[in-house]
Amino acid sequence: MKRLTNLKKILIIDFGSQFTQLIARRIRELGVFSEIVSHKNLKKINVNDLFGIILSGGPLNVYQDKKIKFSNKIFYLECPILGICFGHQMISKFYGGKVKSSKTREFGFARIKKTKNSPLTINFFNSKDTNDVWMSHADHVTKIPKNFNKVASTKDSKFTIIENTKLKRFGVQFHPEVTHTVKGKILIKNFVFKICKAKKNWSPKHQKNTLIERVKKQVGKKKVICALSGGVDSSVVAQLLNKSVGKQLKCIFVNTGLLRKNEERQVVNTFKKKLKMNLIYVNAEKQFLKKLKNITDPEKKRKIIGNLFIKIFERYSKKIKNVKFLAQGTLYPDLIESKSVTGSQTSKIKSHHNVGGLPKKMKLDLVEPLKFLFKDEVRKLGLELKLSREIISRHPFPGPGLAIRMPGVITKEKIKILKEADFYFIDELKKQNLYDKIWQAYAALLPVKTVGVMGDNRTYEYICLLRAITSSDGMTADYFDFSKKFMQKVSNKIINNIRGINRVVYDVTSKPPSTIELE
Ligand code: XMP
Repeated sequence: MKRLTNLKKILIIDFGSQFTQLIARRIRELGVFSEIVSHKNLKKINVNDLFGIILSGGPLNVYQDKKIKFSNKIFYLECPILGICFGHQMISKFYGGKVKSSKTREFGFARIKKTKNSPLTINFFNSKDTNDVWMSHADHVTKIPKNFNKVASTKDSKFTIIENTKLKRFGVQFHPEVTHTVKGKILIKNFVFKICKAKKNWSPKHQKNTLIERVKKQVGKKKVICALSGGVDSSVVAQLLNKSVGKQLKCIFVNTGLLRKNEERQVVNTFKKKLKMNLIYVNAEKQFLKKLKNITDPEKKRKIIGNLFIKIFERYSKKIKNVKFLAQGTLYPDLIESKSVTGSQTSKIKSHHNVGGLPKKMKLDLVEPLKFLFKDEVRKLGLELKLSREIISRHPFPGPGLAIRMPGVITKEKIKILKEADFYFIDELKKQNLYDKIWQAYAALLPVKTVGVMGDNRTYEYICLLRAITSSDGMTADYFDFSKKFMQKVSNKIINNIRGINRVVYDVTSKPPSTIELE
């Protein structure tokens, strides 16, 4: 993997833990650069590039030598190392301790008791010298290496924190990176600043300057195209390119007719009029509607939209001479997930159509300036680039748009009704200061009509489904708990203002078992 910068960093060696990304985020939140590398892809490490190393957790057993593609040379480096869970066991084993397999897992909260002071645990324990930590392991350390000290233990694992301060080796059996561990951030902060003596080198301002320089260097005098959807990632990419190589940039914005109410106007207003970007606006509403006529299968809808999008994008980009690059908003998690350490593959649930990343056969080189950033970092960078808070805090919106929020056939009439319903719902969320507390919210139109009564008249109209969820990354989600008053207000507004809907329901399923979108 190419390096983002030659910034000094905390290197996280990943052994396949589901929490590895969280470790990187916690360190970056402290203003220090951190990077994740799979234990299988460890190249030559220059100790001068590092403040320290963290060995992640993972599903392996320390005695499964064949599966662990990791060189013990790491332990001879003169830089601090913290092992978490599996990493803790690796350190124990390497320096001569013992790790024992156990059939039962220690999972969930555990009360930890301090036995000794350590630079790693300054301000970590409460006044009773205990703390509640989050465990997720089966194996445990049964004997610590010579010259290591026990710093804390729990009822079930005797060596929960260990240290050798001379060698600067530390191990914790629990997960300080997850929010369930009380004061876990303090433990990580102690490692980063007190033990590694790291200097702050990671801020939105720094990222902005570094990325602008990087883009300028990569693009040179060539031309770049960028598919702008108006979502957070593509907006930040476009603005970053605008600031670096603005005159050579052409953004293409395709109105599929499946966007939210007034969205096309907002995008054109913001990017073309306010930010003076080179933007081509393509109104392809009719083409999309025609292709989607009578299609009800969710996967077919997605494929049709994806393919037509590429076709249109290609057609317009061919009109621009001498294009060499395609810019897209790949983020760090996309990169990490695609290189799964354990090699496990999740079965395909939906074929995600991402606006960027599609026209492979166009033979353009990629510019992916956000590929080392997490979503929250992208948002902060966007603000630093002077994008409005409104754009930056927008809820995610899927590439296929309203087509997948309307099970059954797609018609002009249904799109019109849905745009209105969604508008009233989101508008009320903003008015009641709930929008930013929710990860994603939308209205959908169900393909069933039911009977209602308005005034003295019978109605026979569609059902509107509302969905609002909390999540940290969209992988899992919980429904948002609205007050009865809020629900009544939104329901009344929708029914009173929109002809075509006479019933509103709220989706109270989490993900899993449901997904966030309906199709
Ligand atoms: P699901 O429905 O899979 O959605 O639980 C998870 C997140 O992904 C978004 N989503 C998409 N985003 N293209 C996108 O760019 C897509 O095809 C797509 N499908 C779902 C969804 O809105 C949610 O945030």
